[in-house]
Amino acid sequence: MHKGEAGPGCAKVDPIIVADNVRRSFGGVHAVDVDHLEVPRGAITALIGPNGAGKTTLFNLLTGFDKPDEGTWSYDGRDLAGVPAYKVSRMGLVRTFQLTKALGLLTVLDNMKLGATGQRGESFWGGLFPPLWRKQDKDIETRAMQILKKFKLDTKSSDFAASLSGGQRKLLEMARSLMTEPTLVMLDEPMAGVNPALTESLLDHILDLKDEGMTVLFVEHDMHMVRHIADWVVVMAEGKIVAEGDPYAVMKDPAVIDAYLGAHQDVDLGEVTGRIPVQGDGVAAPALSKAEIEAEAEAELAAEEAARKSKRRHDEEDAR
Ligand SMILES: Nc1ncnc2c1ncn2[C@@H]1O[C@H](COP(=O)(O)OP(=O)(O)OP(=O)(O)O)[C@@H](O)[C@H]1O
Ligand SMILES: [Mg+2]
Repeated sequence: MHKGEAGPGCAKVDPIIVADNVRRSFGGVHAVDVDHLEVPRGAITALIGPNGAGKTTLFNLLTGFDKPDEGTWSYDGRDLAGVPAYKVSRMGLVRTFQLTKALGLLTVLDNMKLGATGQRGESFWGGLFPPLWRKQDKDIETRAMQILKKFKLDTKSSDFAASLSGGQRKLLEMARSLMTEPTLVMLDEPMAGVNPALTESLLDHILDLKDEGMTVLFVEHDMHMVRHIADWVVVMAEGKIVAEGDPYAVMKDPAVIDAYLGAHQDVDLGEVTGRIPVQGDGVAAPALSKAEIEAEAEAELAAEEAARKSKRRHDEEDAR
């Protein structure tokens, strides 16, 4: 997968993302300070690091949701610097959010349909001619239902997204991201807050994405999950890439253990997906408390407001 020795910023045989000198500070905090990063194509790469390491900020920069102070990056050989988020997703690079962004007052199916791009009814003239979009609308709905079925959400297609559990909303967000038939899927903490009963199917879905030829880059704190599904691990701390390698090598790296993993990193929690056999019994993570769920909902509202602001900014910039 990589050329030469594995280490921070090492070259990949076939990179899909190449980033150079990407920096973003907030006040005095260097949230992202990456000299060079390549993400291997067709593999599952985990981005790990302590809270505040800059993982989400890096995601925001790469996908056009935020702008760096400096730096260049390309996706599939195309320069992405300055390209706004909605155009990035049309190019085949989609991402999900650490806090889910499913629209609560739309049905599950409508959320899915919003994920489709290039709909004819969206343009002014196209919208005036129903025959043009009716057939396409039907096709989009068929595709949406197929994906929902895979994620076991098809029976909830006419429910409001707000009625789903946090974990189901995460699944919905991932399902929706697939409506665009992406090449690269970036998942920001897909497992956080997900009921243990759903984690196994989530892991399976992520492995499926790779089997279908997609590239996956995901942020995760659960080392158990990283070890089981990642082909490659990138470690961030204080905005910088501090280690890279295959999961086993990275998790044995004393610097990574010191900085992040702590003493119990080699305790394996057991079989997850059944695809990768391991020893020992599975141990479930605790479910979220009511207070945590409420806090999550509040944070979600704040994040939605921030996203609206960011979109307005991009729209204004586009208009100029
Ligand atoms: N909009 C913002 N305004 C000010 N500071 C910010 C903003 N976004 C991020 N930061 C700061 O940048 C640093 C990196 O944050 P970021 O959210 O990218 O970390 P992270 O690795 O995703 O952490 P976590 O694992 O907790 O999600 C932190 O110090 C954070 O406080
Ligand atoms: Mg984050």
